[in-house]
Amino acid sequence: MDENKRPENMARITTREQAEAFIAEQIEALRKQVGSRKVLLALSGGVDSSVVAALLIRAIGQQLVCVHVNHGLMRKGESEQVVAVFRDQLKANLIYIDATDRFLDKLAGVSDPEAKRKVIGGEFIRVFEEEARKLKDIDFLAQGTIYPDIIESDKGVKAHHNVGGLPDDLHFELVEPVKLLFKDEVRVVGAALGLPASMVNRQPFPGPGLGVRCTGAITRDRLAALREADAILREEFDRAGLAGKVWQYFTVVPDYRSTGVRGGGRVFDWPVIIRAVNTVDAMSATVPELDWALLKKITQRILDEVPGVCRVLYDLSPKGPATIEWE
Ligand code: XMP
Repeated sequence: MDENKRPENMARITTREQAEAFIAEQIEALRKQVGSRKVLLALSGGVDSSVVAALLIRAIGQQLVCVHVNHGLMRKGESEQVVAVFRDQLKANLIYIDATDRFLDKLAGVSDPEAKRKVIGGEFIRVFEEEARKLKDIDFLAQGTIYPDIIESDKGVKAHHNVGGLPDDLHFELVEPVKLLFKDEVRVVGAALGLPASMVNRQPFPGPGLGVRCTGAITRDRLAALREADAILREEFDRAGLAGKVWQYFTVVPDYRSTGVRGGGRVFDWPVIIRAVNTVDAMSATVPELDWALLKKITQRILDEVPGVCRVLYDLSPKGPATIEWE
């Protein structure tokens, strides 16, 4: 049997009972596969790696070593949540690495979007590799591979190994407990494992994080403005009951300024662009008709609370021709 093929008779996991049956099955399988050995996991804070971490903590406890690399491009509060949930609540063996300076120094002056992605991806592998080499006796690498990743990598769309690119001498056996599940099933399993709703229902967030939303060459002040504006947008969407209803929403701060007036004088500050989209598969996307009062409230809060911003725009462009991200 091809272990990367979802059996035709496998029922879609939609209920807590089904999730619990899956969890019990996986715990047994994981204990059998791993025995008394150790497993390493890159914990990004995304849904898939978080669910895999929670499953492994149940199955093998302290034999799991989680590494969370904060690349400095996370949304406001995300790395803190990873530490609060996994280290404080679930008592995971978690190594937290604040690599902000390392990433931002490497990114200084890099303006091409694909070059930025390469710097971020490459640096992530290097930081992770350094940690992996410091640890002794690790035999396994756990990954949050899910079924669409396998389907896409079969079609040659993208490599499904999230931490692909580790050097050959770092040889791990893979542990991929949710590889036959679809995203909606991973969320049901995560909720049954007791992960917070904000983590389980997290909207998609690109690997390069805020790096592709702080367009052009990233600067720390503009990145800080982007993070604050994004936090305000998320808070107001939450309050308006739109979290989970709108597929993806975020802000962008471009690398140019515009004229404004503040305190009786001229300013030359950044615009903030609000992006919100609905889609099924991210291949095409539509823009929701947001409530005008909500847009005005978000605009006012960003203008009042985020230093260096004098203008707020709502991007009305569907995909295509516009992509969801600005870079
Ligand atoms: P686009 O901008 O291509 O985005 O319409 C489609 C979806 O993919 C996400 N995205 C990325 N995810 N690494 C990722 O892990 C990336 O480099 C990347 N670029 C775009 C985007 O957020 C959207 O959900």
